[in-house]
Amino acid sequence: MSASPSLSPAPAVGSDNAVSLTLTNIVQDYPTPDGGVTRVLGGIDLTFERPGINMLLGPSGSGKSTLLNMMGGMRPLNVVTPTSGMVSIDGQPCHGPHDDAVMVFQRYANRPDLSVYDNVALPFRFKLWQQRVAESEWRARVDHMLEAVGLADKKALHPAQLSGGQNQRVALARALVLRPRILLMDEPFGALDAQTREGMQHLLIKLYRERPCLIVFVTHDVTEALMLGDRVIVLSTQPAMVADDFTLHAPRPRSLDWQRSPEAVQFSERVLDQLHRVSAGKGSLRVTV
Ligand SMILES: Nc1ncnc2c1ncn2[C@@H]1O[C@H](COP(=O)(O)OP(=O)(O)OP(=O)(O)O)[C@@H](O)[C@H]1O
Ligand SMILES: [Mg+2]
Repeated sequence: MSASPSLSPAPAVGSDNAVSLTLTNIVQDYPTPDGGVTRVLGGIDLTFERPGINMLLGPSGSGKSTLLNMMGGMRPLNVVTPTSGMVSIDGQPCHGPHDDAVMVFQRYANRPDLSVYDNVALPFRFKLWQQRVAESEWRARVDHMLEAVGLADKKALHPAQLSGGQNQRVALARALVLRPRILLMDEPFGALDAQTREGMQHLLIKLYRERPCLIVFVTHDVTEALMLGDRVIVLSTQPAMVADDFTLHAPRPRSLDWQRSPEAVQFSERVLDQLHRVSAGKGSLRVTV
């Protein structure tokens, strides 16, 4: 089942942000406290071939963060990831951190000792980014991002003086100021109240339109998946496999009317059914609609 092609939008995709991210037969085993091993990811094959917003859902503990961290080249201590299989970007295998992908987490990780401005500009303190982007250019980017996320008038404040939503905007601005080709988001709006979350979803759509990139976005919120996604992927659990994978063509921003349309209701039921099916008797299901 997929949405009517007549609703298909034509995303404003430039050639400079074309990217492909491929996961080939990804298996992940983790050691258990009793000395055994648990297979968390059981052979995941996924290809993301161009800019777009890809929503990743699955029961709690199904390995979503494990998979996302792998895409970002983040490796846990004392565990080899992936156990087998390959992550590649534009056909090149990735064996560790790489500059194409930037991550945004639910805990936004803003530095409490730095101002909003310095938090957004933080990556440019590092030599790698200093060498890549001239100071005049990065300062212009930081100013633009602060405007874009609506924090220009708060740039001198510190994180403790901001709300949760504002702090998440700082984190988003810090990620996007690097103009990444791949943006990996792990439940970025999960800790926000419903209204603030909706505001952040609209902001993300606006920023994505300005500069499309390949986004993989983990969420427990089925409505969020349907409001944002070009593609929705549902993982099963222990070991996780791709249980469902479909595309949505309705133009964004998606209205409340669309959300109530038979098409959206069908998609929502489809995802909920999958989540209940794959978590039956295994793991725990944490889901909101
Ligand atoms: N470094 C690690 N060592 C051992 N086990 C781990 C490690 N990281 C994750 N796990 C285990 O792997 C499983 C999947 O974890 P992961 O955090 O990827 O799940 P998730 O789908 O993101 O869950 P949630 O929805 O709750 O965020 C869990 O059972 C977790 O305990
Ligand atoms: Mg997680």
